[in-house]
Amino acid sequence: MQVFPRPQIFTGYTHLGTCREFVWLPEDPIGGKPVPARFMIRGLRCEHDLEGLMIRKDLFLHTADGQEYLVANFQIVDISNLDEIRGIASAFRLLLDEFPEVKAQSHGHPAVITKDTHLHAFRAVSALIGSIHVKQQIDAKDAGIVINELARDITSTPQAVLNLLAIKSFDDYTFSHNINVATISLLIGHALGLSADDLHDLGIGALMHDLGKLRLSQRLLSKEGRLTSGEFAEIARHPRLGADLLTDRGGVPSDVGPHARAVILHHHERFGGSGYPQGQKGDQISLFARICAIADVFDALTTDRPFRAALPPHEAVRTLMSQVSSHFDPEILQVFINLISLYPPGTVVELDDGRMATVIRANPGHLLRPVVKVVGTAPQPHHIIDLTTQTTRFIKRPLPHLPR
Ligand SMILES: [Fe+2]
Repeated sequence: MQVFPRPQIFTGYTHLGTCREFVWLPEDPIGGKPVPARFMIRGLRCEHDLEGLMIRKDLFLHTADGQEYLVANFQIVDISNLDEIRGIASAFRLLLDEFPEVKAQSHGHPAVITKDTHLHAFRAVSALIGSIHVKQQIDAKDAGIVINELARDITSTPQAVLNLLAIKSFDDYTFSHNINVATISLLIGHALGLSADDLHDLGIGALMHDLGKLRLSQRLLSKEGRLTSGEFAEIARHPRLGADLLTDRGGVPSDVGPHARAVILHHHERFGGSGYPQGQKGDQISLFARICAIADVFDALTTDRPFRAALPPHEAVRTLMSQVSSHFDPEILQVFINLISLYPPGTVVELDDGRMATVIRANPGHLLRPVVKVVGTAPQPHHIIDLTTQTTRFIKRPLPHLPR
């Protein structure tokens, strides 16, 4: 973590709006008492309602000299003076330090999307959300550029296997979820052989699939526990609200084609007909929306949410499989399962003989049988096992902690 002199003042903008000064005060004992790391935002001009500010987990800060920072796990604690909002946070880090692709690449596994593309995606989502809040319309120019970059990365990665570590870059659900769903959708679309134009449309729709939620109460969206039927009905408005955003505010942006709108409107339709808003069934649902539905649910299941902890990938896949045909298109789900790595590079696993091993490479099409390196007292140097060739050996379970 970078150490800053204190107090340090930054100017720039956050994804919440623009701010004149951001002052970071690291954790420090003051007068013998420990005082947690804290910050002040001065001169915040923000289109968010204040309750939206209260629940966000990460704060994105872009300084005038081009540096970008994340303030992790921030919590605003005092808004009595709107010109000097005070909060606490766990850390203040350079954004580039937060990218786990670097870790994944150190295991010799190519990341599906490059760090540059991920940064651009982060900025594009920031601009997209900002354009809706500030200008009340979608400015999809940056989104179009970033989808082209994502699609280029994915189509130029041989045997692209979804590296789950690489896409879990940010704690901020709104940001990371949109980018992850676009990435996963593009991977599936690419595997299905969609054309470049169709991939572009799919990616744009996936990146914007939940933008209608910006029109809903943030408190409702992060509610813990069961929703009442009225609350569910309110949340179920978001596909329509999102699709309307495209058409209500100055027409459809030139980068957004009809398939993108279908993704936004129909990503909660279910293959068996139980979804919303129109209860479409099977092939009635746009192919693009059927792809996005799988990406959306998979990413949501594998991410920590206010109301439940993240599922490990193998359990998320099991959940999806249990809903095949009722919720998801079976053929597309099969394509997706062939693409993902349940044990991404870097995962520590226990083998059936009790030895620990580190996954060093996925085997496309063999979810449960990656290439692993046995840890500890190996009987031979470089004891690497390709579990697709040593079929009597298998992974008993993943262990919770990744090596650093
Ligand atoms: Fe949604």
